[in-house]
Amino acid sequence: MKRSAYSLGLSGSNQEMRVERLDVRGHFPAWLTGTLIRNGPGAFVVGQQPLKHWFDGPAMLHKFSFQGGSVNYASKFLETDALRTSQEAGRLTYCEFATDPCRSLFKRTMTLFSRRPTDSAKVSIGRFAERYLALAETPLQMQFDPDTLKSVGVFLHEDNPIGQMTTAHPHFIDDSMYNVVIRFNRICEYRLYQTGHNYRPRRVAAVSSAQPTYLHSFGLSPRYAIIIEYPFTVNPLNLLLWMRPFIENYQWQPRQATKFFIIDRHSGELVGRCESDPFFAFHHVNAFEQDGELLVDLVGYPDASIITHFYLNRLKDADTRLPHGHLRRYRIPLRQRQRVKYETLATEMLEMPRFAEDTHKMRADYRYVYGIGLNRAQPNGYYNQIVKLDAQHGDARTWYEEGSYPGEPVFVAAPNSQSEDDGVVLSVVLDTHTQRSYLLCLDAMNFEELARAELPQALLFGFHGAYFGA
Ligand code: CO
Repeated sequence: MKRSAYSLGLSGSNQEMRVERLDVRGHFPAWLTGTLIRNGPGAFVVGQQPLKHWFDGPAMLHKFSFQGGSVNYASKFLETDALRTSQEAGRLTYCEFATDPCRSLFKRTMTLFSRRPTDSAKVSIGRFAERYLALAETPLQMQFDPDTLKSVGVFLHEDNPIGQMTTAHPHFIDDSMYNVVIRFNRICEYRLYQTGHNYRPRRVAAVSSAQPTYLHSFGLSPRYAIIIEYPFTVNPLNLLLWMRPFIENYQWQPRQATKFFIIDRHSGELVGRCESDPFFAFHHVNAFEQDGELLVDLVGYPDASIITHFYLNRLKDADTRLPHGHLRRYRIPLRQRQRVKYETLATEMLEMPRFAEDTHKMRADYRYVYGIGLNRAQPNGYYNQIVKLDAQHGDARTWYEEGSYPGEPVFVAAPNSQSEDDGVVLSVVLDTHTQRSYLLCLDAMNFEELARAELPQALLFGFHGAYFGA
């Protein structure tokens, strides 16, 4: 293994801090007056115990506040039971994605129903009914105070969350929050929930499954919810016995189809079931109906090997070759039952996809998708460029700087924007030369740099964030 310079983003832990007025190069737009809050792992070691996978670390929130061209920064570990008890014990106390607490320290056999799923909501950020949420795939969604970043409470989809998982990417639309919960039992179910401003989840639909998939997100169109069962599945008995960490119970089944479940999200009826050739995805992008078809855009992979590439020892290897995800459009015929086909919308690889969600969610005319990828001349190692794909024409713009490793780019529309890409994209970038990170601001239209704000530490590579206008 050739240890990479960017291993800095995958090692050790970050400091909690508050910094007024970061050093800024260039000019952040004067209209940018809101807050970007990002989520991700704040450490890759707990006490003496090293973590194995990118998705294992305890959640840390990073906040960037913009005002008059200046940027303030604050970071804080999300206060959870997993964090508190592991700090006291000096080792992992809850089961994470691919690392379990040391087995010999357990007095009794672990099972799905006795294990403690982590409450470290480390994946994404949402705001719903004036509450700010740190979100994860485990059922505890943590509410936090956006001023102090302190935890203020827990939100659950179901009263008894033992033996369930959810997606880290709920949809916020029409004063509702939609999410899918997977209930593990002898008969497993995907359950679609809609939560209104009263914060009481209502079960819209349930689809049973003998061997559920690993589900990171799902699709939503004006009329439908789309749950895709990739052939990366688990025998629930293996989770009940819990002989190995969570994700290691899942297996790729290359001879099985990928299944699409189409739910009318207003009536709750399962209106379609169809199949495609096997593929895997973490992230849906957008979905809409057009001319009797349901079009589902996502970042597709030929198989689920991307998950094993995210083990830290592999990801730190400068020579690693990450599998390439591409923006795919699946066309689901709503009236006939035929095999689902897809087209690749752009040849440039893509992960961590974002678009102008506030204005173009579920719209057939949406055009631009932002994300991270690998530079064609430097295709080894961790993601090293920011991309902007044109989903209508297949073109791409890229931002690349040698030694810089960017995270998810978040699009922020300019006030009274005249076009879909009138605004900026914000990305936290690790600079391996200075061994620190910076917040990069690009003009979303031409992808030229407007400004960067220098951070006093190298941030560990994070996952998702959200921008909240002032
Ligand atoms: Co995600």
